[in-house]
Amino acid sequence: MTDRELLNMAKLAGQRAYAPYSRFKVGAAIETESGKVFTGCNIENAALGCTICAERVAVGKAVSEGERSFKRIAIYGEGTDYCFPCGSCRQVLAEFSPDIEVLCTRDTGGYVSYKLNDLLPHSFKL
Ligand code: THU
Repeated sequence: MTDRELLNMAKLAGQRAYAPYSRFKVGAAIETESGKVFTGCNIENAALGCTICAERVAVGKAVSEGERSFKRIAIYGEGTDYCFPCGSCRQVLAEFSPDIEVLCTRDTGGYVSYKLNDLLPHSFKL
């Protein structure tokens, strides 16, 4: 799968976002080391703190299906800025794959790519 294909899956997933409060739709597509892809979208709640980010929905779907090793995650957010994972999502990704490649895209096209280790150095570990 190419970067562009994974990014397109993230964008498609973003269409299913439930974001009536922020009106900011996010989609994510995470690829496992075994080549499977799990998608997610942000799911907001009237109790705002109950909101779940797209990335964590994708990770939750994968882990609950027995997958724990990830190669890449593509993240799409509406608007003109690249959508980077929030701090909590970085920590959740680091739990499973500190070396994961993070691809960030936006409505106006293009993408940037980082290693999670560079986005979250010295992540917390027990
Ligand atoms: N959001 C994500 O889905 N992922 C992120 O990494 C950043 C923020 C969502 C949460 C909320 O529904 C909306 O974007 C605005 O914060």
